[in-house]
Formats: sequence, C-alpha cells, structure tokens
Amino acid sequence: MRVLRDQSELNQDPAVPGCVFVPTMGALHEGHAALIRRGEAVARERGGSCVVSIFVNPTQFNEKADFERYPKTLDADVALCREAGAAAVFAPSVGVMYPDERTAPIPSLPRVAVEPGLEDRFRPGHFAGVCQVVLRLFRLVRPAVAVFGEKDWQQLRGVAAMTREQGLAIEIVGHETVRDPDGLAKSSRNRFLSEQEREAALAIPRALRAAQFQSDWRQAEMLMQEELRGRVGRVEYAVIRDGISLGPIGTDMVESRALIAAWVGRTRLIDNTPWPGRN
Ligand code: PAF
Repeated sequence: MRVLRDQSELNQDPAVPGCVFVPTMGALHEGHAALIRRGEAVARERGGSCVVSIFVNPTQFNEKADFERYPKTLDADVALCREAGAAAVFAPSVGVMYPDERTAPIPSLPRVAVEPGLEDRFRPGHFAGVCQVVLRLFRLVRPAVAVFGEKDWQQLRGVAAMTREQGLAIEIVGHETVRDPDGLAKSSRNRFLSEQEREAALAIPRALRAAQFQSDWRQAEMLMQEELRGRVGRVEYAVIRDGISLGPIGTDMVESRALIAAWVGRTRLIDNTPWPGRN
C-alpha cells in the first residue's frame, strides 16, 4: 500500500483513476475500517481499487482548540488502512490542499447543509469547510465512487447534494453506523469520554431506540428528550426529520430519520437512526 502526498504522486499511481474513495480525518477506528472494507468490496466488484484520504481539515472546525485537540495518529491510521484493504492512502499537507483561494473555493452550499437548523445551526461554518475540502479532494482524486459514514447523516446528505449540484459524476455511497456492543456509535471523540461519561452517553442510542417504537413523530421527539434528560448535558437537538432534505417531516417523504446531538462533559456527540414512522 502506497502513501501519496501530492497531486503528482496521485497522477502517477495506478490505483487512483476511477477509484472508490474513502475520505477521512484520521484518528481511525473500527467504524472507518468498516467504511474502507466496504470501499474495497465495491472497488473489487468494479475491478478497481480503494483509496483513503487522511487530512485533518482545519476549515471545518468551529474552534481552534477543537482542531488542536483532534487526535493526529498517522502511523496507526496507515496501518489500519493497509489491514482494511486500501490500495493507497492520500495524506496531503495543508499546503497541498489549500495552496491559494482560487484552487480550493467554498462551493455554494446545498439547502440540506444550511436550512435544517441542525449541524448547520450548532456548528456554523462547518459545512462550508466540509464541502470545500470534499470538493478539493474530489478534484484531486477524481474517484468514481465515494463512501461516507451514515453517522454524520447531514454531512452525507450535504455531500450527496453538493456532488449533484456541482455536476460531478461521482456516486455517493452511505455506510451504516458501526456501534460498540453496548450501542454507542463509534466515534473518534469517544476517546475523550471518562468511564462515567461513556455510561451517560449510552442514553443517546437508547433514546434513538425508544423513538423507533413510537409512530407519532411528536411523541417520538418527546420520548427522546425524556430519555436524555438528566443523563447527558445540553441537548442541541433530538428530532425526527425527512431523511433526505432534513426538513420537517411531510407526506411525500422517501424516508425519515431520528437525529440527536448532545454534550456529554466536554464532548459533543451526534448519532441518528432510520425512523420507521411516517406521519
Ligand atoms: O467525516 C469526516 O471525517 C470529514 O468531515 C471529511 C468528510 C473527511 C471531510 O474532512
């Protein structure tokens, strides 16, 4: 497995053209390994290769301290990519990604990235940074398919919409959230939780599960709030939404989704599941 650092190394590598691409920010865990294995399986079906990027993107962090706190574990990440079946890792520097403003513009953001009042509201500027880095990566790597985790549901929907709106012929594939046996969604942020906080954080998957059994969306939202109250810190949202637009649920929805963002100690966690009710 090769580690590529810039555009010219990407251009010379036989794995890159038409690859299945898995963008990451490193600090890789079992959830990422599942994305890479999925990417490798899709690539194998198409006779291609899986390429993973590792780049901690400074433009998508709301706070400098959060960026600085983000774990940087390149050697372990490269080993995980190799084990999960990637053919190459693209690990660019900030200079390669953002040489000047013209090369890495912030694209116009799709409605799903600015209107729902979810991550867009609580992490202002976040999706501008995500869309900027993903578009730049897509232009450098030029994949045929890109795989994103469903855990960041609004990001997945936002990237899919941006890709369509930019007219890029890249298929966006979502991969289901990987959970620990106790139900907590795998996240690079889980390493910041104390034992007690980790226990408290289990209220989040419990609340999502409770919502599954309630077919009225208002009741489901109330149930989630009840499950979370007193167990986690500030709840930023615990809502049922149209799974594609992330707007309020309506009658012409294809799917709906229960989504939560809440603080546990100094750590902000997000999670979501499909919601089977339709009213
Ligand atoms: O989900 C992530 O890890 C990041 O937001 C992404 C998509 C790699 C962009 O930096």
